[in-house]
Amino acid sequence: MGLTGLFLITFLIVHCGLNAMIFFNDSGETFNHWGHLMGTNLIIRTMEIGLFLFLILHIVQGLILWKQNSAARPSKYIVNKPQENSKWYSRSMGLLGTLILVFLVLHLYHFWTPSRFGGMGNIRPLEEATLGSYDNQEVHNLYKEMLFVFQNNLLVVIIYILGVISLFWHLMHGFQSAFQTFGLNHKKYTPLIKAVGVGYSVIICLLFALMPVAIYLNWLS
Ligand code: HEM
Repeated sequence: MGLTGLFLITFLIVHCGLNAMIFFNDSGETFNHWGHLMGTNLIIRTMEIGLFLFLILHIVQGLILWKQNSAARPSKYIVNKPQENSKWYSRSMGLLGTLILVFLVLHLYHFWTPSRFGGMGNIRPLEEATLGSYDNQEVHNLYKEMLFVFQNNLLVVIIYILGVISLFWHLMHGFQSAFQTFGLNHKKYTPLIKAVGVGYSVIICLLFALMPVAIYLNWLS
């Protein structure tokens, strides 16, 4: 779980960094430029297969761990004060992961299916919203796609914010836990890893949440 978790943590840095280019407020030009380069790069496309495999593996490992934990303690403790031994979000990783999964299904339907399979995943005609030009060729205009998904769509914005909040708590435990899995439990380094984990979770999730909000509130052109 540690290895797949770290891979997903790295993916989120790249994904968030790339998406944050919308804040250049240049009508998505820089974002679309890099999105196009990434989308047509053979190494990145190969890694995309790895990403989905790791995502599935991470979920399966989580389920196995959950089953093992409940099998290891079939009867409940007589005295159990979980709040004194661990944080609520470390005990709720399965629930938080499930909420993220629900968010991801909607999210991939919004962005990934149209960019990989044309208009199939969306009800609107593709050509209306999603074609832009780059280097004199027609490319998928991911920025316009974002405007379409979030502008005038409060419910979707709220769902995304809830998804990102779930991700935040999942990462708050998951980041540090991934390092611990590799045996990195040290008097000096563990507090540092925990601090980096909190910083990472705050920055990544704030930036992600700001994307739908900024578009909904028309802060971006
Ligand atoms: C909340 C703001 C977010 C926005 C605006 C956003 C936007 C996008 C866009 C535009 C794509 C399509 C990229 C492409 O087809 O080339 C995409 C793909 C994807 N996103 Fe997000 N995303 C957000 C948050 C997240 C979060 C929080 C996660 C994970 C928990 C996530 C996971 C993914 C995955 C797995 C893909 C498919 C990867 C791929 O295309 O290779 N996204 N996202």
